[in-house]
Amino acid sequence: MGTICIIATHYARTKKLFGAQTGFFEELSTMAMKDGHQIFIVDVDQFTKYSKPIKGFTFDLNHNCWKYIDCKRPFVLYDRSFPDINTYTENLPFPEIIERNFTIFNPIKATAIMNDKYQSLKLLEQSGISFPKTELIDSNVYDSELLKTKNRFVIKPRFGMKGNDVCFAEKRGLSLELNNTGEIVKIEHLHERFKGYVIQEQIDTLFSSNGKSADFRVLLQRIDGKIQAVGSYARTGDKNLPLNLACGGRIVSIEKWLYNTAFTHEKIEQTKEALNTVALEAGNFLCSRINGIFEIGMDFILDEDNKLWCLEANSKPARLGFKLLAMDKTTPLESQKYFTDVREQSMRNIIKFGQDLLSRLSSTIKLIQIQ
Ligand SMILES: Nc1ncnc2c1ncn2[C@@H]1O[C@H](COP(=O)(O)OP(=O)(O)OP(=O)(O)O)[C@@H](O)[C@H]1O
Ligand SMILES: [Mg+2]
Repeated sequence: MGTICIIATHYARTKKLFGAQTGFFEELSTMAMKDGHQIFIVDVDQFTKYSKPIKGFTFDLNHNCWKYIDCKRPFVLYDRSFPDINTYTENLPFPEIIERNFTIFNPIKATAIMNDKYQSLKLLEQSGISFPKTELIDSNVYDSELLKTKNRFVIKPRFGMKGNDVCFAEKRGLSLELNNTGEIVKIEHLHERFKGYVIQEQIDTLFSSNGKSADFRVLLQRIDGKIQAVGSYARTGDKNLPLNLACGGRIVSIEKWLYNTAFTHEKIEQTKEALNTVALEAGNFLCSRINGIFEIGMDFILDEDNKLWCLEANSKPARLGFKLLAMDKTTPLESQKYFTDVREQSMRNIIKFGQDLLSRLSSTIKLIQIQ
């Protein structure tokens, strides 16, 4: 009936064949196999050559190891590849996949739009959802409304890199001071110093009683044809720093974080509800513009006036946040169990979506054979 192939980078000669995603792939493969389905992990390279047949790693449950064999056809592709942050400069989705018409979980168009902070926010601008004013840094930026009217900014690569190279900046006359280094950049030189970046108004986030800031992630997935919120969590850390895990952010449950801001139980519930509603609104809006989306990680910030701002849509959301919460011994057992369930459910949804794609693919193949 076909297989699900996960596109990912294979790190040869290391214990963790697929880097930080190795455990996730192993669990997903095991879960799929128990239901009689097979998963292959295929290196990005296989799609940059016209290799035939395509080879991949499949997990051997009996020997508890990966085997490198030909991928069974037909297959559908789940893209979990992340570009190398040192060499990545622009958004180049696999041309061979487009050319060869492979079926892919999140269509390439969706990944391309969501990877591009400027394009995705310009699209979301049409949805009525609040998001920070954003400009592309080019030679005209010095004349923008944003730089004239706001004082505090976030400068970030147009194609996100997990918090890498994101810096907070403040206006000083005709210059900007970068918070992390103290460097002063003249506004008229901004496009030389930050070519290919975007500049965004900085949202004044709500702080917890110990002075930490936070942002929120909601995982949306398509289940039975409908976009649904599967789970959410907060990332917390120091003021004026990106809160990505790679930059020192820490995962906490949204309840726990809001509790630390002295929100009442009722206000916590209302905020969680508002977060889910706005995430679903954003997800449904993106789905109304782009067909076939399977999952989105929607990021939000809560400001001092308790208003939610959409930060970005991620086309390859991680599940690590749920795992960390499931393992967090400082939270009650039922909370740990809840996050274990959320994570497992999100993985079952991957397998189910893949199987549905495969059955549609098989009926198309049969139809072509009949004709
Ligand atoms: N406008 C903003 N106001 C306040 N904080 C922000 C703003 N933009 C970004 N941040 C902080 O910086 C972090 C990183 O920003 P962002 O998610 O836009 O880039 P990225 O994580 O590098 O991109 P990607 O998630 O695509 O890899 C956010 O999670 C948030 O904590
Ligand atoms: Mg991000």
